[in-house]
Amino acid sequence: MKLLVTGGAGFIGSNFVHYVLKNTDHSVTVLDKLTYAGNVHSLDALPEDRFRFVLGDIGDPAVVDALFADHDAVVHYAAESHNDNSLDDPRPFLDTNIVGTFTLLEAARKYGRRFHHISTDEVYGDLELDDPQRFTESTPYNPSSPYSSTKAGSDLLVRAWVRSFGVRATISNCSNNYGPYQHVEKFIPRQITNVLRGERPKLYGSGENVRDWIHADDHSSAVLTILEKGVIGDTYLIGADGEKNNKDVVEMILAGLGQPADAYDHVVDRAGHDLRYAIDSTKLRSELDWRPQFGDFQTGLADTIAWYRDNESWWAPQKDATEARYRAQGQ
Ligand code: NAD
Ligand code: DAU
Repeated sequence: MKLLVTGGAGFIGSNFVHYVLKNTDHSVTVLDKLTYAGNVHSLDALPEDRFRFVLGDIGDPAVVDALFADHDAVVHYAAESHNDNSLDDPRPFLDTNIVGTFTLLEAARKYGRRFHHISTDEVYGDLELDDPQRFTESTPYNPSSPYSSTKAGSDLLVRAWVRSFGVRATISNCSNNYGPYQHVEKFIPRQITNVLRGERPKLYGSGENVRDWIHADDHSSAVLTILEKGVIGDTYLIGADGEKNNKDVVEMILAGLGQPADAYDHVVDRAGHDLRYAIDSTKLRSELDWRPQFGDFQTGLADTIAWYRDNESWWAPQKDATEARYRAQGQ
């Protein structure tokens, strides 16, 4: 297949591109605007005969149409992805996550292309710490932040284009990813790179908030599985049973870098901070026979710490500006 991957210079998109080129015969074109979150160096050293990069905006119909005409399937990762930024300036989230997705759906309709939409568990809102339930495909939508509400809106657009226009689309909602190539604004890379620079990790609020961690390669294998075997019009939740609270993750990072367990600071909490996410991925496992390969978060985190230690030239150019922005917000 000739795959078009939007947002392929970002964290999860670039991991997906590496995964596809390594594990399949598909060729890949990345369409990416290279916002502050995109980095072409995440796509270094890929095979030239199977990989192409196109600089452009998913909201630009001329660029999008030409690419859809020339590809078999589209995997749509491009988004404004950071909750904190969406609290500061929501507008780009509406432009890219809503209008950008609309533009892609119109092209999928026009050219009859297979479309897979990448979404998030945050569309379901949050859970209490002691709630025995986890999110499933039938949990009602209840997003909290400007980011998650635009992702929820984009999911609903996809569903409408399937039902109204027969677009051959699937949706996946995944939990928090970790791994290489993640921007230093995000929780795990921020804390690793803080420690590598001799700064203390920063925990929002009490640090009791829980996230359900999955390695980016497991997300990629799940997306490929859905692309190949998913039922058109269906939604699949992707998760690897990786619930951890933020304080425990910070302590694991400190231990991994040889620092005392209490060498972190509590800082101002995020407005509207979701308490807990937790995914029940039974449907994906039972209907499409998918299993995660990174069972052990501790090992995956150690690999991720080693990657940031070995790749300072990848993240250092972003670090000062990111921390300056956080400092201005008391975080
Ligand atoms: P990211 O911020 O690291 O990357 C986003 C990429 O999209 C960047 O390369 C950026 O340049 C590009 N982009 C942004 N606006 C664009 C536009 N208008 N046109 C073209 N390209 C544009 O994001 P990520 O963490 O890799 O997330 C990728 C997708 O996965 C998003 O849709 C996000 O909602 C979803 N998701 C993320 C997670 C997570 O843990 N990070 C979990 C579940 C779902
Ligand atoms: O659940 C999937 C979502 O996971 C994706 O849809 C988003 O694109 C992705 O960014 C992520 O959202 P979160 O808001 O959960 O991720 P973030 O890395 O920003 O924060 C993870 C947790 O860590 C959250 O509870 C906030 C907390 N945090 C974050 C930062 C940056 C801190 O305690 N300190 C920090 O410095």
